[in-house]
Amino acid sequence: MRETRLPPGVGGLRMIVPGSASQGFAATLAAELDEPLAVVEYEEFADGEQLVRVPDADRQTPAPDRAIVVAATVSAETHIELLQLHDIVNQWVDEVITVLPYMGYARQDQAFRSGEPVSARAVARAVSTGTDQVVTINPHEPAVCGFFDVPCTAIDAAGQLAEPLPQLTDPLFLSPDAGAIDLAVTVRDAYGRGETDFFEKQRISDDEVEITPSDATTDARDIILVDDIVATGVTMSSAISQLTSPADIYVTCVHPLLVAGARTRLTTAGVEAIYGTDTVERAVTAVSAAPPVTSYL
Ligand code: R5P
Repeated sequence: MRETRLPPGVGGLRMIVPGSASQGFAATLAAELDEPLAVVEYEEFADGEQLVRVPDADRQTPAPDRAIVVAATVSAETHIELLQLHDIVNQWVDEVITVLPYMGYARQDQAFRSGEPVSARAVARAVSTGTDQVVTINPHEPAVCGFFDVPCTAIDAAGQLAEPLPQLTDPLFLSPDAGAIDLAVTVRDAYGRGETDFFEKQRISDDEVEITPSDATTDARDIILVDDIVATGVTMSSAISQLTSPADIYVTCVHPLLVAGARTRLTTAGVEAIYGTDTVERAVTAVSAAPPVTSYL
């Protein structure tokens, strides 16, 4: 295990180094920290292999002594890219901090059937080889931090989701399962008013979930659904199908993965607007999750 040589907030100049999927997040972080943002070039060869380059890596004046690599691992490609960025920065700085705005594979945090890997552990171990510490945002289960061989901190950015919400009179903040109720409470608290409740969810398969209605009255009320991730949108659309006569429905999530037809699925389910953060940079990204990370760093 590598040792963290400096605690957060202590030390000299840091360079922010963005992965291709986190360029907006990294720019916001650099601006908030008032530290330089490295220019990174991303290439792909004909055989599909990737190459990243930080052309001015060793020409910074004064030379940074720490690098903050910011990379959402939303795909296999971005995982490789992160390892390549680690290899570059470890040649020129003393300490590397890795910010994973979204940690891919975090939901595979156990071997669900015999013969399967604990994928979250596998990727965490690989990431640990090139960094002194990891900071991640709202991982599906905070326990995933224990898979890293270096110190890992999970930051809660759910409160940021209150910012883009419109003015609502008597909103109900609902989570689609009991596990996400804390997020709904955090968003409600940041918003300043409203009731909270949660559904019971049982996942049948990748594209099928069973949702049991909550106790709260939804009649003629504005509903804000809150979850950590919206991927296929099946969870949210199933929850929406259980609402009786709601007014407007808003979907908020920290990580707006929105794969395949998720956005259409939510629109046809009657969603007024979807708000996500920039941990996954998408068209529905409405607010940055960088401020709570800035406060930690
Ligand atoms: C799982 O429990 C998570 O909190 C989300 O509810 C889930 O990942 C959402 O996935 P999907 O949009 O595919 O239903």
